[in-house]
Amino acid sequence: MSGLFITLEGPEGAGKSTNRDYLAARLREQGIEVLLTREPGGTPLAERIRELLLTPSDEAMAADTELLLVFAARAQHLAGVIRPALARGCVVLCDRFTDATYAYQGGGRGLSLARIEALEQFVQCDLRPDLTLVFDLPIEIGLARAAARGRLDRFEQEGRAFFEAVRQTYLQRAAAAPGRYRILNAAQALAQVQMDIDTLVPQIVELCRG
Ligand code: TMP
Repeated sequence: MSGLFITLEGPEGAGKSTNRDYLAARLREQGIEVLLTREPGGTPLAERIRELLLTPSDEAMAADTELLLVFAARAQHLAGVIRPALARGCVVLCDRFTDATYAYQGGGRGLSLARIEALEQFVQCDLRPDLTLVFDLPIEIGLARAAARGRLDRFEQEGRAFFEAVRQTYLQRAAAAPGRYRILNAAQALAQVQMDIDTLVPQIVELCRG
């Protein structure tokens, strides 16, 4: 038995966590076992790495350090949570995964694709998400929502150009592999986004049972 690995992606303030919980509830109504998790994080040790990544500090973090920390957290998360859950036949709903690395460390920081691909292969071997939902919205709306939540983390303190590159990287990756990605318009009212999610539920149920 092998589960289904679904990731949720998007720029800041796209409502991923709310929509992840909503999708989980709809799938559980269908009798599907769902595990909710997030990156960076998902295990106690990986959550400590998340703290390092998100907490602003006087010492600037080198882009390569950031990349390696992201993949260190991912290796822990895969070993401790994601792979065991998939092996049990669960649907894993993960708030961010390696597409975020391509978007933030690749697009945002300008690190080379080859370097990210090499680490992806090293850490994940052949594991890739079965389905990725990209919650897309103009960066002004997302940043305003993030600012309204309170103090900005280390990533949220970046400028416009950084987030525009993040957004464009997600959209380019989705356009290059339409079989794996679904783009949702996260600028709409939450109720509308959730109606869009509802239309995906039968496809996901079919993937689970197929
Ligand atoms: P969030 O989960 O609250 O959206 O915050 C996680 C932050 O970490 C977000 O700004 C994106 C960033 N991030 C990366 O830069 N690279 C990654 O690979 C992942 C998973 C997240």
